[in-house]
Amino acid sequence: MTASATYPSLAGKRVFISGGGSGIGEGLVEAFVAQGARVAFCDILQEEGAALVARSRNGAFAPSFHRCDLRDVNAVQQVIADAEQTLGGIDILVNNAGNDDRHVIAEVTPAYWDDRMAVNLRHMFFAAQAAVPAMRRAGGGVILNFGSISWHLGLPDLVLYQTAKAAIEGMTRGLARDLGRDNIRVNTIVPGNVKTPRQMKWYTEEGEAEIVASQCLDARILPADIAAMALFLASDDARMCTGHDYFVDAGWR
Ligand SMILES: NC(=O)c1ccc[n+]([C@@H]2O[C@H](COP(=O)([O-])OP(=O)(O)OC[C@H]3O[C@@H](n4cnc5c(N)ncnc54)[C@H](O)[C@@H]3O)[C@@H](O)[C@H]2O)c1
Repeated sequence: MTASATYPSLAGKRVFISGGGSGIGEGLVEAFVAQGARVAFCDILQEEGAALVARSRNGAFAPSFHRCDLRDVNAVQQVIADAEQTLGGIDILVNNAGNDDRHVIAEVTPAYWDDRMAVNLRHMFFAAQAAVPAMRRAGGGVILNFGSISWHLGLPDLVLYQTAKAAIEGMTRGLARDLGRDNIRVNTIVPGNVKTPRQMKWYTEEGEAEIVASQCLDARILPADIAAMALFLASDDARMCTGHDYFVDAGWR
């Protein structure tokens, strides 16, 4: 077990995390709470969200959970407004929610295309749009968008997911340019394969061993490893980092 960093600049910061109910998002909620941040998170999973709140009560501030389906833009705008009211503002937006359902090219319909873009890409823009006024009022802010190693590797059966994840890196650069003069930093975190309950649905033990063999480092990436990057990028220590993609992939090639 290694000792982890504490960032004094994160104490009391108002943080909104999408998809915080499970997987990496759950790790993000726990990590920001442990830094003494005020955290609000949303998820489509009611039970998981409520359970995470129940076991996070020993931080300086208990997180608040908002159930929401991010595929609905009105719901995205509403949940940001609710979080802003609960937290008294928003300093840090973590656009984490996504869904990596597999698909074959021949079976993709226009409706499925729209649904995949809605769950993986569109909500990130509209959450940023909704949170920016609060960040401006606070004198600055941080937006972290979650990309993926998948399209960098060209993994199979994930064309739409990879299309959305590639777009997120472009969106990050555009947002960083337009918001930089407001002292709002925007970056993409690019995870490799992270051991989460959902990933264990896709990979057998042999599959996991293959991933580790393709990495430079001989261990599985855990949600806490991704959260460590998010904490740094959200902190004032990263004050001159914007418009880029930060990989946590153990050197997967
Ligand atoms: N785990 C990995 O190996 C990996 C690799 C690369 C990128 N990523 C990215 O990291 C982020 C988190 O991934 P994860 O592995 O924790 O995924 P996950 O599926 O375990 O968790 C995603 C969370 O988002 C929520 N969510 C999904 N659709 C939603 C909707 N319509 N409305 C509200 N919430 C919704 C889910 O309920 C879930 O709690 C995603 O953007 C994912 O694409 C993950």
